[in-house]
Amino acid sequence: MPLIREIDYGTPASKAEASVTLTIDGQSVSVPAGTSIMRAAMEIGTQIPKLCATDMMEAFGSCRLCLVEIEGRAGTPASCTTPVVEGMVVHTQTPKLAKLRKGVMELYISDHPLDCLTCSANGDCELQDMAGQVGLRDVRYGYEGESHIHEGKDESNPYFTYEKSKCIVCSRCVRACDEVQGTLALTISGRGFNSRVSPGQSETFMSSECVSCGACVQACPTATLNEKAVIEIGAPEHSVVTTCAYCGVGCAFKAEMRGEELVRMVPYKDGKANRGHSCIKGRFAWGYATHKERILKPMIRASIDELWREVSWEEAIAHTASEFKRIQEKYGRSSVGGITSSRCTDEETYLVQKLIRAGFGNNNVDTCARVCHSPTGYGLKTTFGTSAGTQDFDSVEDTDVVLIVGANPTDAHPVFGSRMKHRLRQGARLIVIDPRKTELVRTPHIEADYHLPTRPGTNVAILTALAHVIVTEGLVDQEFVDKYCDVDAFQHWAEFVSQPERSPEAVEAYTGVKAADVRAAARLYATGGNGAIYYGLGVTEHSQGSTSVIAIANLAMATGNIGRRGVGVNPLRGQNNVQGSCDMGSFPHEFPGYRHVSDDKVREQFEADWGVALQNDPGFRIPNMLDAAVEGEFKAIYVQGEDILQSDPNTKHVSAGLAAMECVVVQDLFLNETANYAHVFLPGSTFLEKDGTFINAERRIQRVRKVMSPKNGYADWEITQLLSNAMGYPMHYSHPSEIMDEIARLTPTFSGVSYDLLEREGSVQWPCNDKAPLGSPIMHIGGFVRGKGNFVVTEYVPTDEKTGPRYPLLLTTGRILSQYNVGAQTRRTANSMWHEEDVLEIHPHDAEDRGIKDRDWVKLQSRAGATTLRAKLTERVAPGVVYTTFHHPTAQVNVITTDYSDWATNCPEYKVTAVQVTPSNGPTNWQEQYGELQRRSRRIAANVEPAE
Ligand code: SF4
Ligand code: SF4
Ligand code: SF4
Ligand code: FES
Repeated sequence: MPLIREIDYGTPASKAEASVTLTIDGQSVSVPAGTSIMRAAMEIGTQIPKLCATDMMEAFGSCRLCLVEIEGRAGTPASCTTPVVEGMVVHTQTPKLAKLRKGVMELYISDHPLDCLTCSANGDCELQDMAGQVGLRDVRYGYEGESHIHEGKDESNPYFTYEKSKCIVCSRCVRACDEVQGTLALTISGRGFNSRVSPGQSETFMSSECVSCGACVQACPTATLNEKAVIEIGAPEHSVVTTCAYCGVGCAFKAEMRGEELVRMVPYKDGKANRGHSCIKGRFAWGYATHKERILKPMIRASIDELWREVSWEEAIAHTASEFKRIQEKYGRSSVGGITSSRCTDEETYLVQKLIRAGFGNNNVDTCARVCHSPTGYGLKTTFGTSAGTQDFDSVEDTDVVLIVGANPTDAHPVFGSRMKHRLRQGARLIVIDPRKTELVRTPHIEADYHLPTRPGTNVAILTALAHVIVTEGLVDQEFVDKYCDVDAFQHWAEFVSQPERSPEAVEAYTGVKAADVRAAARLYATGGNGAIYYGLGVTEHSQGSTSVIAIANLAMATGNIGRRGVGVNPLRGQNNVQGSCDMGSFPHEFPGYRHVSDDKVREQFEADWGVALQNDPGFRIPNMLDAAVEGEFKAIYVQGEDILQSDPNTKHVSAGLAAMECVVVQDLFLNETANYAHVFLPGSTFLEKDGTFINAERRIQRVRKVMSPKNGYADWEITQLLSNAMGYPMHYSHPSEIMDEIARLTPTFSGVSYDLLEREGSVQWPCNDKAPLGSPIMHIGGFVRGKGNFVVTEYVPTDEKTGPRYPLLLTTGRILSQYNVGAQTRRTANSMWHEEDVLEIHPHDAEDRGIKDRDWVKLQSRAGATTLRAKLTERVAPGVVYTTFHHPTAQVNVITTDYSDWATNCPEYKVTAVQVTPSNGPTNWQEQYGELQRRSRRIAANVEPAE
């Protein structure tokens, strides 16, 4: 398998529809107007020498290597910055050009360390290539004069080096940081000979604003910015295209390998979700896959007080199956169940739900989407008819007004966050509804037109107040509503939102948002052109999560912002495959494709295919399983790739439920928190060790490809299959493509999907069937999936979680860029250098009232429990609101979250907890011990301490 080298066309593609024809080196070529001569030449296979140009960024024209001659024009213009003109006649190879290019290369090489043979970029260096391409044989200037070749290295970033002596000051890194990533961390300092690339104000990379996305490293044509893994391991020799296993953006990467060793992950330019960009997690934080703490052998124990005993796979599977059978015989068919993983592939989640429905004989299956986006499924299905976002990511390029609700894209969905920043810097307007001043509210060259800092728990009131303005000020797109929506439902809704008690003025007192801002934001969204709503867990993880999703859908329908590019309702899904796990039938009431288990026709179809009778009543959701366990009715659970003890609310209740079970089976990479209560541990496999598919937030189905053998012996789907066979329900898949074929056979929205299609197209967005053989980038074009769009009234019901004298502050939670969810993977990489611990953000006024200073230890107490962590004083949060992340088990933030949940879906109310914050002496004993375990884990990750 060769190393995949993507073609670099030198400058970005022009989107113009008009075409221009010109002649290059005697050949006629037609290209879109606005194309550079350099790119036009590539179309006929002519690569003009270049150094500062690359097709990921706008042309810059600094290196003067790409000169061409144009008939009828004086001089030798740069082909990267010169657009094509009709009838133009261009020569790319003439004696004059050859001489000029050689002269340019001589200057570069005379100030470059000539250590090519030992350089880490040898064979992968554009400077080297260009020297060869222009035929450079000697350097007339010698190497004696003033030069930069003794400049040192910046090794501060754990993942890449900056070897200053090799820099040719082409500015590709600076432009990558500006244009692709949007962080603006780099600059060229000094002038002329003294020009140098500088992170921030002559800082190191680590101390600058750099967020370690890797765009500059990828853009650098020399070894100046180079991955440390390449320096240590050597140049990769083959690559395989696969999909990131962290977040719902679904970035495509080339896993670049030496044998079975991963050298680096390089974002794939053909990846339709990321278009060649990445964030720190997908790009660099893959070391957990080979971390020494990974459990590679199955283990069992009779009770959770005993030590684990390593056993063979045969024994582990036989033991698990016999326990599940014993328990079902003793306590009944419904006494067992399972949880699918949104980190695993579609094929793996499909198999787990199939095992439960067909092998266990009940519908007790649920997934972690229960605790994040289950309200999205409910809300969008109720209003539009489909449980998924409406757009592709490219759509944002045509958006005029971006409305972000309860989402922090630059931290939680960073690659899409960068694309959004790009659009905002081009002039799109911005409204942010969030209790916290997230980065996008104010960042270089971006300032939200309106930030509506809601009091946690009042989203429904604000969203309905926006609707109030739109309806009462006559801003409804009546033509759209009349044509595509249920008009009676609209009338009923319009009357409801028009009531005075829904007005911005009426809700200001409890939402905390100025009425004038709500009015102005509503006008902007309704009249500012294409309006697109992006929302996240700040919408769903509430007792009224489903109502908020419905309120968002109502806004989009009322303003006609649905069914074309640039508009829509877009949930930013959290985990890499949370969309897929929902699509694959992970909920207790739905078969794959969101079809209710009580639908006889659908069930009969599955019964015929699976060869067993299936239950027609919904099974237990995760909270019901735990409740039933505490009550003694639910006795065994199979948990694949999910740490419910750390990620689910009210940790005490979760641990009580798990402790009450007779057989807890955890299948995971590491001994997670849930495994403390497990009787069987089945080692899981990473995304690098298996074939399959993930589905991202755009409904995009993308291939995951195996690049190394499973270190534990089996891919996760094979383990489920072994268990199913041992349970007496046979499964005989030899490859995940066969599982996808079955999914396609049984799921109308997937009926056109196959691995062959994915191989040909790269990726497709469901629905993919006869009506849309290449998938559906945008949904609800020319009508809603459910028929007519359904407006639903959204009565605001305050949460039962109330502040009062004992708990006067509201806690809300979120994520940070460098860490991921419960941190099981990212904490086992150098990413922890950016975020070593969870801290509590508190407004300086609230801190002062309590005698708390920055970095002080504080006790965070709610009605459910207490924990301690350090305080960070910041005006990002409003007075009365505190905020923290939940990446580190030492903080155990979910000890203090409550049992309140969404009325429709049981999604926990993570975003609203009444708390008190008081000074503390420091972490509790168990936190100290746990912290030391974590520090040790990091030392092992950094290879400074052996695992044993
Ligand atoms: S790694 Fe990313 S954020 Fe850091 S300097 Fe490079 S492009 Fe900018
Ligand atoms: S660090 Fe690399 S990309 Fe940046 S200016 Fe130097 S050579 Fe160019
Ligand atoms: S944005 Fe998400 S999918 Fe993309 S590299 Fe980062 S974590 Fe992976
Ligand atoms: S590639 Fe055109 S000026 Fe550098």
